[in-house]
Amino acid sequence: MALVLGIESSCDETAVALVTSDRRILAHRVASQDAQHRPFGGVVPEIAARAHVERLAPMIAATLADAGITLADVDAIAATAGPGLIGGVMVGLVTGKALAHAAAKPLVAVNHLEGHALSPRLTDTTLDFPYLLLLVSGGHCQLLLVEGVGRYRRLATTIDDAAGEAFDKTAKLLGLGFPGGPAVESAAREGCATAVPLPRPLLGSAEPHFSFAGLKSAVARAVASGAHAQTDIAAAFQQAVVDCLVDRSRRALAATPQATAFVVAGGVAANGAIRAALAQLAADYGLPFVAPPLWLCTDNGAMIAWAGAERFGAGLTDPLDVAARPRWPLDPAAEAVRGAGVKA
Ligand code: KG4
Ligand code: ZN
Repeated sequence: MALVLGIESSCDETAVALVTSDRRILAHRVASQDAQHRPFGGVVPEIAARAHVERLAPMIAATLADAGITLADVDAIAATAGPGLIGGVMVGLVTGKALAHAAAKPLVAVNHLEGHALSPRLTDTTLDFPYLLLLVSGGHCQLLLVEGVGRYRRLATTIDDAAGEAFDKTAKLLGLGFPGGPAVESAAREGCATAVPLPRPLLGSAEPHFSFAGLKSAVARAVASGAHAQTDIAAAFQQAVVDCLVDRSRRALAATPQATAFVVAGGVAANGAIRAALAQLAADYGLPFVAPPLWLCTDNGAMIAWAGAERFGAGLTDPLDVAARPRWPLDPAAEAVRGAGVKA
């Protein structure tokens, strides 16, 4: 049994957790920076990095105290090393390096996306490789065949916006504030999805990828027309995203008969309508559907500690001069797609 301290600081959540290789979460803390970023309608990288600096060290001390242990009891230190906002990533990674050096513990540099990708295995003890993963977050929208720890085959990605980005932009257009995903979801509950016709980009396309930019533009036009209720636009938008995610996932499931489960992870996986539609799709294919609990979908330290535990268990540790990476694809062999290049 190994005990791993995990540190997450790649976006606007400062998070720390203590997780064991036999899936016990001894303690975990998340501090959101929503209040600091809200006046700007989005995450401001400089503000995020400064907030991580202020919060991280006391949070690590508090998390160790929650579990009633000291750094000496920890077997390895895992920190997100990318991808993400580079200032924040550096704060967490350098803190992890300092702790690893001072306490003479091994360091595990974790890819944030690998944290999301392996997080379902923390709470579902039966989930084994290979599984098909829909990874939907603020910066990414990908379908990946997860073949093992560190072994990911990307089947599809977005050629423009990520799904979470589309939720956040729609929230902004609708004046629902920041962060956008949960606000759009609750507005959608009060609206009628068929009241506003919206496009479903790449639906039924022979290519495997996602696209949400055209949907966002259509939302902007629907808002500008003044002809629709805010709740109807939210409901129609969410249904369009559901339809796109289901269609693209169905295509990927058909292409990966070796998958033993269909799994969703990342912040957008917290959406109830999306979870329900994906569960139905998995049932159609006779596969178990696995989605982490809501708190484990959005950014947190436990997923980094768990990915650290999985890597540590596989003998994968990193030197203290390992670099922070603003971009870091899970599948380095995946080809660039047309229109892509803005997001990692
Ligand atoms: O994984 P995450 O916490 O951070 C990144 O790594 O990006 O994902 C954040 C994204 C945001 O775009 C947020 O709006 C979206 O997840 N999100 C949601 C919901 N909760 C969070 N999107 C739709 N419905 C939700 N309930
Ligand atoms: Zn994330």
